[in-house]
Amino acid sequence: MRPLAAVASAFGLCLLLAAPGHAQQPGVDADACLTCHNDERMLLIFRTPHGQGADPDSPFANQQCESCHGAGEDHAGTRGVGGGHAPVVNFDHEPGTTAESENAACMGCHTGNVGLPWNGSAHERNDLACVDCHSVHKPTDPVTMQSSQAEVCFDCHREQQADSMKPSSHPVRFDVMACTSCHNPHHSTTDALLKRDTLTELCWSCHTDLKGPYVFEHAPASEDCSLCHESHGSIHQALLTRSPPLLCQSCHSQSGHPSISFTPDSLPGNNPSAMVVGGSCLNCHRQVHGSNHPSGSKLMR
Ligand code: HEC
Ligand code: HEC
Ligand code: HEC
Ligand code: HEC
Ligand code: HEC
Ligand code: HEC
Ligand code: HEC
Ligand code: HEC
Ligand code: HEC
Ligand code: HEC
Repeated sequence: MRPLAAVASAFGLCLLLAAPGHAQQPGVDADACLTCHNDERMLLIFRTPHGQGADPDSPFANQQCESCHGAGEDHAGTRGVGGGHAPVVNFDHEPGTTAESENAACMGCHTGNVGLPWNGSAHERNDLACVDCHSVHKPTDPVTMQSSQAEVCFDCHREQQADSMKPSSHPVRFDVMACTSCHNPHHSTTDALLKRDTLTELCWSCHTDLKGPYVFEHAPASEDCSLCHESHGSIHQALLTRSPPLLCQSCHSQSGHPSISFTPDSLPGNNPSAMVVGGSCLNCHRQVHGSNHPSGSKLMR
């Protein structure tokens, strides 16, 4: 069953409370609104889920334009005689309106989708309106499309936009992933609105091969991916927070290896600087996430 069906009856009540004097019938018919708002863009709403009169839950089976814009009699009437501007909810963040009051127009029908958990989410706490992300007059709402979503988020999240352009990043800019591959926009059990309960569980949900368990764990890798990786973008290879050897040396002693003598002969390719060039530590310790090899205790195979 669609979530909306569950709130449909409650919704009838909401409308009565929100707009006294109005039942399910519009005070001003959509046709009347459209005589003045006859811009072709206005008709696009009939190509969206909201414009489907056959769906009993949709605005057009209820108060039509007024389901969202509020009672329009005064507005339409005074406009008709060239009078002043009567208030219509226009979702324009005008002085005196709050995100909450704008959102109320949507919440009457969508409590089932975003409802209670929305309250208290990072976006709700920061007074975002539904329409800061959603465009309901467009045939396809850009924020719900993988190819156009990030642009909507980037309007406010510049840092993540910059990250997405770095040499190593998750492939959001190639439209292979969206922000909502990892984030819930409406609510979540985590601060950063993650889709899983912890950061590492989120990473494992796609990078299942790195989940282990390994015969030889590398302690930090089974504990928290963000000890070594950025989530959005990095100037270092493989989204690393910094490059080896510095990365590795942030935890491991820099004083070298007790059991390796630093003569050219003891090193691969007779290269005395194998500790720091190219793959650096990874030249030997390839299995940085853990090893299942019988002799992989030093993460070399
Ligand atoms: C008699 C003409 C007329 C009718 C009928 C009419 N409007 Fe308007 N409406 C206007 C004009 C004129 C504006 C101001 C446009 C502008 O400033 O660009 C406007 C503005 C708006 C705005 C923009 C926000 C604002 O307040 O400036 C919305 C939303 C709106 N109308 C919705 C509706 C709805 C919904 C209906 C039907 C219930 C409706 N209108 C009926 C003439 C009309
Ligand atoms: C599902 C809710 C909803 C319904 C139904 C709806 N609107 Fe809107 N309308 C909005 C929102 C939200 C905006 C703010 C801009 C946006 O998100 O597209 C808006 C913006 C507008 C604007 C001003 C912006 C502009 O682009 O000129 C007008 C005028 C308008 N609507 C008229 C109408 C009319 C006429 C109808 C009925 C045919 C209607 N709306 C039905 C939600 C709705
Ligand atoms: C009168 C009830 C009603 C109101 C008011 C309403 N919606 Fe909807 N909305 C619906 C219905 C019905 C659907 C289609 C649901 C479905 O397909 O299950 C829908 C679908 C949506 C979708 C999904 C669109 C898609 O492409 O799948 C979004 C996003 C949405 N609404 C946002 C909003 C926002 C934002 C507002 C306030 C500006 C709003 N709605 C107001 C009834 C409503
Ligand atoms: C930060 C941006 C953002 C805000 C703010 C936002 N949404 Fe959404 N919404 C999205 C995205 C992104 C999706 C698509 C979800 C996906 O792809 O997983 C979505 C999907 C939806 C859907 C489709 C059904 C569903 O649950 O997936 C509805 C309905 C909806 N939003 C309603 C709302 C309402 C009502 C509000 C205001 C209380 C709101 N949204 C606020 C970004 C937002
Ligand atoms: C209108 C501006 C705006 C838009 C659009 C917007 N956000 Fe936000 N977002 C905020 C604000 C403000 C905060 C809270 C302050 C902060 O942490 O930056 C926030 C917080 C977040 C957080 C949590 C940050 C934390 O530390 O708790 C995530 C994740 C997030 N947004 C993702 C998204 C995604 C994904 C989209 C697009 C679907 C999006 N946002 C669209 C303004 C926006
Ligand atoms: C691969 C998963 C993933 C993708 C894709 C993703 N994020 Fe995040 N995001 C995270 C994780 C994990 C965090 C937790 C903080 C961190 O970076 O350690 C986070 C944190 C955030 C924050 C909070 C600030 C911060 O950096 O801590 C914002 C805002 C945010 N993301 C926005 C976005 C936006 C916008 C997009 C789309 C362009 C996006 N994210 C795509 C995983 C992702
Ligand atoms: C929704 C799926 C998904 C989630 C969740 C996810 N990733 Fe990824 N990750 C990908 C995809 C897809 C690629 C690109 C693979 C490719 O290009 O072959 C990728 C690539 C990477 C790369 C290699 C980047 C490079 O430049 O070579 C690293 C490192 C990485 N992810 C780490 C993480 C971490 C850490 C997390 C958790 C914060 C995470 N991923 C969460 C899907 C995901
Ligand atoms: C101790 C540091 C460290 C931790 C912790 C760590 N990684 Fe890595 N990861 C690396 C290094 C170093 C590379 C680069 C390997 C290379 O260049 O060959 C890498 C590469 C990757 C890659 C790219 C291709 C591959 O499979 O080698 C992915 C994906 C990845 N890590 C995901 C994760 C995930 C998911 C986690 C958490 C479960 C995690 N990493 C934890 C250090 C770490
Ligand atoms: C966040 C801290 C941290 C980072 C960064 C880190 N390690 Fe480790 N590493 C550990 C811990 C903790 C152990 C487990 C030590 C133990 O069991 O005595 C370990 C174990 C190892 C071992 C096995 C040691 C043994 O005696 O079994 C090797 C090899 C190793 N790390 C190599 C690396 C390399 C190479 C890098 C860089 C890609 C790296 N580590 C980055 C914390 C880290
Ligand atoms: C030329 C190959 C090579 C390179 C390069 C290399 N290691 Fe090792 N590393 C080894 C070998 C071989 C051992 C195993 C020594 C043993 O069994 O006692 C080892 C052991 C370790 C251990 C376990 C220490 C112990 O007491 O057993 C750690 C931690 C470690 N390396 C970290 C690093 C870090 C960090 C780097 C980069 C700065 C690095 N290694 C570069 C070959 C290398």
